[in-house]
Amino acid sequence: MVAMLDKVYVETYGCQMNEYDSGVVKGLLKKDSYEVTLTPEDSDVIFLNTCAIRENAHAKIYARLQNLGYLKKKNPNLVIGVLGCMAQNLGDDLFNQELPVDIVVGPDNYRDLPNLIQKIRESNQVNAPIQLTHLSRTETYDDIEPEVVDGIQAFVTIMRGCNNFCTFCVVPYTRGRERGRPVSSVVREIQRLSDLGVKQVTLLGQNVNSYNFEGLDFAHLVSTIINETSMERIRFTSPHPKDFPMHLIELMQREERFSSNIHLPLQAGNSQVLSDMNRSYTKEEYLDLVKQIRNAIPDVGLTTDIIVGFPNETEEQFQETLDVVREVRYDMAYMFKYSEREGTIAQKKFPDTVPEEVKSERLIRLVDLQTRISQEKNLEKIGEVFSVLVENRSKKSDKDLSGRTHCGRMVVFPVPEGSYQDWIGKTLPVKIKQATSATLKGEFVGA
Ligand code: SAH
Ligand code: SF4
Ligand code: F3S
Repeated sequence: MVAMLDKVYVETYGCQMNEYDSGVVKGLLKKDSYEVTLTPEDSDVIFLNTCAIRENAHAKIYARLQNLGYLKKKNPNLVIGVLGCMAQNLGDDLFNQELPVDIVVGPDNYRDLPNLIQKIRESNQVNAPIQLTHLSRTETYDDIEPEVVDGIQAFVTIMRGCNNFCTFCVVPYTRGRERGRPVSSVVREIQRLSDLGVKQVTLLGQNVNSYNFEGLDFAHLVSTIINETSMERIRFTSPHPKDFPMHLIELMQREERFSSNIHLPLQAGNSQVLSDMNRSYTKEEYLDLVKQIRNAIPDVGLTTDIIVGFPNETEEQFQETLDVVREVRYDMAYMFKYSEREGTIAQKKFPDTVPEEVKSERLIRLVDLQTRISQEKNLEKIGEVFSVLVENRSKKSDKDLSGRTHCGRMVVFPVPEGSYQDWIGKTLPVKIKQATSATLKGEFVGA
């Protein structure tokens, strides 16, 4: 008789680093003879890998846990765990809310998960929840083969933690100090992915271009990946504007396999607000960097993150954010209302003064402006032909495939029904025919 394996279900919230970590958790548990399942209903262990970046990220998890309570009633042996950034930053609090939680484990403690599940089972789960949230200076999960492949695309975390302490941000507290993985281990993982058929890899880190391993920097790592692996396309996110040296821009300009797509978080367009945020660049320095990048790589794809309503932000200061957005003309932006986070420097130093209505109204104006710019920029592309690396079936329409240009722009295009598999993973010329603010729609124009 074949022994039935225990089933583990992992649900992921937050950023791509959490996606990767969920892959690490699945990889670890598989090694410990668990089977990964895609639905919570029939599982023996449920993990929510959580995010703490904004208030609504928290609220979502509380609601989800309440909702999972019914499974626990049906199966008292079910183990429910909270992982990730919220686990790290709330810890004990999670047990005090009468939620169905057995284990709370922070991002640097996933190696202990098999043991912890075992312990919970032995203690028969009777009011004996376990918390493990020790942040490490060395943990990189270097030797673990994570389950991260999504078709032809995969993520690889190259550094963990963050030392920047932007005053609004909880990440340095939930993810600990910066540490880079050894170059050789990153290269090995990427070649393994390439051997599995992955064509595009996204290098991940909270400020990925501050990567350092024994004095070797981010540009060194990328050139080594280019020289020593057969990965077709290399992307990365998120870089910090403070660590963008010319030799990195030149590498991007020179190397065909290095995608010319930069997510360059602005956060705010006024230098005083930037200084209060501890972003370590001024508006002028940021705009200079954009100029340097565009001079070297004119068709670079530029995207950004912006926060509105940081404490004390005036209407005039917000206008400067709009000015920068008009000047840079990003392809796309993620835009947020400031959300005060427990334990951050901003929470201690700057009361959350901007009223909610003002934040909302600023966000609407900013989103309107960016949507208009995205649309204008996309309309300009009509008639152009791009090399598109085909990633997947389109999420919106099952008649289309979706892929990315070299500069990171998403393109969807139709292919004959039934032939999808033949196209995925290929790089093909696609001519843009239609555009909205969110999508470029094209047509395959022959090999
Ligand atoms: N490491 C990246 C981004 C991390 S979080 C960087 O340095 O840019 C992703 C984005 O969430 C941030 O860029 C920021 O725009 C937003 N964010 C972070 N903390 C926030 C907060 N307290 N309130 C609102 N938005 C926040
Ligand atoms: Fe947060 Fe700033 Fe670090 Fe990004 S660089 S993770 S915004 S502290
Ligand atoms: Fe959220 Fe943690 Fe990522 S707070 S954005 S999951 S690093």
